[in-house]
Amino acid sequence: MSQEQYSSSCKGKGKLEGITFQTPIPECRCNEVLDHMRKSFYVNEPLLTALDVIKVGEPQPEMDAYVVETVKEGCSVAALDSKTDKIVGVALNGVMRSSDPDLKEKLDKMNSKVKLIFEMINNSNKHLDLFCRYGVDEIFEIRLISVDSTYSGKGIARELVLRSDNLGRKLGFKLGKADCTGFFSQKAFIKNGYEKIHEIKYACYKDKQGNVIFKTKPPHESMAVLVKHYDGGDC
Ligand SMILES: CC(C)(COP(=O)(O)OP(=O)(O)OC[C@H]1O[C@@H](n2cnc3c(N)ncnc32)[C@H](O)[C@@H]1OP(=O)(O)O)[C@@H](O)C(=O)NCCC(=O)NCCS
Repeated sequence: MSQEQYSSSCKGKGKLEGITFQTPIPECRCNEVLDHMRKSFYVNEPLLTALDVIKVGEPQPEMDAYVVETVKEGCSVAALDSKTDKIVGVALNGVMRSSDPDLKEKLDKMNSKVKLIFEMINNSNKHLDLFCRYGVDEIFEIRLISVDSTYSGKGIARELVLRSDNLGRKLGFKLGKADCTGFFSQKAFIKNGYEKIHEIKYACYKDKQGNVIFKTKPPHESMAVLVKHYDGGDC
């Protein structure tokens, strides 16, 4: 996907002063994105934290591959510290297509516990069948959203969602979608006009033996599927 690349700072935007946003993230920043994700997302995202499988800064082959694949789709957004140009947040975005192959075979080959997260999201996607529900063949998906904890609570996630939506709309998509595994990201999407259409409560999501799979810490109690019509229609 190719489109004009642009950066813009947030002068006069209160808490966002000193943050520059880059859209889309160029492929040459892939390693910087991976570095950010390994130090931030992999150890702070509620489900990865509950599984406790990754140490700070460590690679994780399945997550790393998903991150790189998504950056290469060319429609992600980065938040940068304007002084240092360091990545402090990302929205990693991609396109879901009705023609996409079934992921089950790929997931069956995964060995790590991370598979449990991909499985829950894949089953939820199949169950909801958003293509049929909304009469579209393609959906703009905000897949992974992450902000460095030293910059949290400034509205960076909210701005990343806003800018991702603007990009999705500009690229001609009718629907934006996110699977939000944490309470704070759900807030950031809802503030941007997303509507919750499905929720999986972690306390009720159990394995065959009846054990809760994701023992998350409060306030992270559920995964929510959120959607937004880019043309302003109802969900
Ligand atoms: C979720 C995450 C991206 C939020 O980033 P952020 O830039 O701090 O979010 P924002 O500043 O836009 O805040 C969004 C909302 O969450 C609240 N929030 C964010 N961090 C918070 C914290 N540590 N404690 C309490 N509230 C918090 C904000 O107050 C805001 O709520 P409001 O609109 O009612 O004021 C960030 O915490 C993160 O990277 N978490 C780990 C990865 C993750 O869980 N990603 C989402 C998985 S789908």
